[in-house]
Amino acid sequence: MTLLVTGGAGFIGGNFVLDWLAQPGAEPVLNLDKLTYAGNLETLASVSQDARHIFVQGDIADAELLARLLAEHRPRAVLNFAAESHVDRSILGPEDFIQTNVLGTFRLLEAVRAYWGGLEPAAKEAFRFLHVSTDEVYGSLAAGDAAFTETHRYEPNSPYSASKAASDHLVRAYHHTYGLPVLTTNCSNNYGPFHFPEKLIPLMIVNALAGKPLPVYGDGMQIRDWLYVKDHCSAIRRVLEAGRLGEVYNVGGWNEKANIEIVHTLCDLLDELQPRADGQSYRGQITHVTDRPGHDRRYAIDARKLHEELGWRPAETFESGIRKTVRWYLDNPGWVSRVQSGAYRDWVQTQYGSDA
Ligand code: NAD
Ligand code: TYD
Repeated sequence: MTLLVTGGAGFIGGNFVLDWLAQPGAEPVLNLDKLTYAGNLETLASVSQDARHIFVQGDIADAELLARLLAEHRPRAVLNFAAESHVDRSILGPEDFIQTNVLGTFRLLEAVRAYWGGLEPAAKEAFRFLHVSTDEVYGSLAAGDAAFTETHRYEPNSPYSASKAASDHLVRAYHHTYGLPVLTTNCSNNYGPFHFPEKLIPLMIVNALAGKPLPVYGDGMQIRDWLYVKDHCSAIRRVLEAGRLGEVYNVGGWNEKANIEIVHTLCDLLDELQPRADGQSYRGQITHVTDRPGHDRRYAIDARKLHEELGWRPAETFESGIRKTVRWYLDNPGWVSRVQSGAYRDWVQTQYGSDA
């Protein structure tokens, strides 16, 4: 039995693969990742010699490759993490988002539908397609609005969230029309180890340590609901194991914070754990910059369904998770500097030669 994980060299997919393989008796993982700028095999260095981790560099939009991999490895589940994921990049250039998040998900669904249709009855019954999505598909909340439930109307506002919304709709349609056994998770903002330093939390840590400005968009009062990445991974494992077919599960940690509050917390932790040489606070590096166009004001996830139906709850509080995250960045300067220099992109060649 194998799991096919797409996008498993990215932030969440990478953490998922590591956590999955750390479980006793875990099934092997076939990891299909295109290795865009966001894919980093160095994240998976600790399993690079593990026979249970099979890495293939490839695109979820490549129908022939998908058909071959499914026929060869016969996975019992497909978990789709692969996506273009950065809102700011989607504003600068939306096309890659449509290509991977919409067309790629469609091609993956088509390949999986053909494979699933040919399975023996027992394998067909047990098979799952789990689609990893985001709370951003629900749009923006005003202060005082109730948090997003699974039945909240879709109102995506950025090219990123619109492309994810389209992918969610395709997944839903493949269940409704073809009976494909799908599960969808819509999660709030993640943070934790191996997070590419273009997103708020790792960017602020890395810039602070480098003595660079900490660019807060607009007034910094936009609210996000933060979840430690390993809690997201445990939620996905739980939904895969026990989720009801065709259902959507919102995943979140009840941790709404304004961006400026996050940046202050990071500065204070760094002041404690690695004080600046001049004795000043890292808060002095904060600068307010032009706001993101169409910036969503507030996200908040109501994760009661996942808790009440499947018994999932996060293991970390925001305070414990953010401390672990800052510690991780302090302890892993090599990972960070190779991301910044671009040297991480040589990892495939170094580690896998021409086989990858
Ligand atoms: P990421 O950008 O860190 O990683 C994405 C991975 O997908 C990379 O390894 C990249 O190389 C790969 N990829 C991109 N295009 C591909 C393609 N066409 N074929 C194969 N692989 C491809 O993203 P992430 O933060 O790990 O997000 C993973 C998933 O979780 C995404 O679907 C995202 O929408 C969703 N999500 C993210 C967050 C968050 O806070 N980061 C929150 C909720 C949901
Ligand atoms: P980000 O990590 O890009 O996640 P998302 O846009 O998917 O929520 O941004 C989180 C919040 O932080 C968002 O409100 C934008 C803001 N932000 C900044 O203020 N400065 C920055 O440099 C970045 C990258 C984000």
